Parts: sequence; structure tokens; C-alpha cells
Amino acid sequence: MKTLKIPEATIIRLSVYSRHLTDVDRKGIITTSSGDIADGVGVSPAQVRKDLAYFGEFGTRGVGYNVKDLRQHILRILGLSADWNVTLVGAGNLGLALCSYKGFRERGFIITSIFDSDPSKVGTMIGNVKVLPIEQLEEVAQQSQTQIGIIAVPAAGAQEIADKLIKAGVQAILNFAPVVLNVPPQIELRNVDLAVNLEVLTFNVGAQRF
Ligand code: NAI
Repeated sequence: MKTLKIPEATIIRLSVYSRHLTDVDRKGIITTSSGDIADGVGVSPAQVRKDLAYFGEFGTRGVGYNVKDLRQHILRILGLSADWNVTLVGAGNLGLALCSYKGFRERGFIITSIFDSDPSKVGTMIGNVKVLPIEQLEEVAQQSQTQIGIIAVPAAGAQEIADKLIKAGVQAILNFAPVVLNVPPQIELRNVDLAVNLEVLTFNVGAQRF
């Protein structure tokens, strides 16, 4: 069967649509339209229809979309109809901030284990999760069937942590450390660098001067 290549920008917009639909659903609204969604997230109605069309027919002509059904469809497409266990490595400033972000849990990403190499952090609680010694990473991540690992350690230790996460069976890594990681092709790797986003902003602001 020929598989359709879905643009990454579409996947990102689906995530935005689902968050918007969650808000709309909370307000008790039953039906919506591509125009309403477009207004809510700041894209064109044609873009909403095009993005959804990748995944088949949704909604009824003239009636629109049932909010709950469309939200469920999108969550299923994004693989979010079940919770994902997440392991966080690095209980520093960034690690703490990520742990206290309620949006992860609301969207089905549950930080089930946290590891650090600093003995003064091991044994402390972050929310209801105890920080464990890094030596236990492979064993615990394997047991808890963690699918996603977040790396929030300094660059120097990040590759070693990536290797351990992969050995423990993690399928996807979100890397915050400013370093290029080598991972096998079957591992989904995303690097997050807020500085790059700031640089895009400064470039765009600067470009207006030329
Ligand atoms: P931090 O120094 O506050 O925390 C790092 C934590 O990692 C500490 O608790 C430390 O004990 C632990 N650690 C160090 N080596 C380890 C190892 N081998 N195994 C397990 N734990 C280890 O640093 P912060 O500010 O939280 O930053 C963490 C990382 O995230 C850094 O690489 C930093 O550059 C990056 N960062 C990236 C951002 C981005 O936009 N991508 C934004 C902020 C930080």
C-alpha cells in the first residue's frame, strides 16, 4: 500500500487544532466548522480542510464537525488516545520546569521516572515522582516500559544518556542539550533549542531593516 507522506507542518498544526478543540469542548460547544477552527488558531479555513483531508473524511457538509469526535480523531492520529510514559534525565532548572508543566499530563505525557547523577538530588521528590540515581535508568525505564525520554543534562553527558535510554527500549527522545546526538535511524529524535527560535526572531526583526 502506498503511504502518503504527511508534511511535518501538518502534524504540528493538528496538535494546535486538538488543543483548540479541547478548549472549545470545555466551553460545551457541540459543533464547529473549518472557519471557526481557522479563526481560533490563526490559519485559513482552506488550510484546516487540507490538513484534515490527509486523514480521510471528517464532518458533514453544511453541518460542520462534531467537536468531541474531531478531537478524538486528531488525538488518535497523533498517537495520543493513550498515555505515554516519559522518563526525564536531569533534575536541574530545566528538568524542574518541565516537571511542573501541567500541559504534559493533560495531553497524555506522564513523567513516570526522573534520574540524576547528583547524590544531593537523588531521593528528593518532584511532585509525586522520586529522583532516582542515574545508575538505575536502564532497569527502571525497561520495567516501566518508557517510550519517550527527555534529556535535560549538560551537553557533555547527553550522548551517554541517549545511549542508555535507547538500551532501555525508549523509542523517542526529546533532547534539550545543545549537542548533536547520534542515534539509530529507528529512534525518533527531536532537538529543542529555544535560542534558535530567538535567533529566528532577531533575524526576522533585523531583516525588516534591509
Ligand atoms: P542544570 O545544571 O540546572 O541541571 C542539569 C542537571 O543534570 C543537574 O541536576 C545535574 O546533576 C544533572 N546531570 C548532569 N550530568 C548528568 C548525567 N550524566 N546523568 C544524569 N544527570 C546529570 O542545567 P539546566 O539549566 O537545567 O540545563 C540542562 C540542559 O538543558 C543543558 O544542556 C542546557 O544547555 C539545556 N537547556 C536547553 C534549553 C533549550 O532551549 N533547548 C533551555 C535551557 C537549558
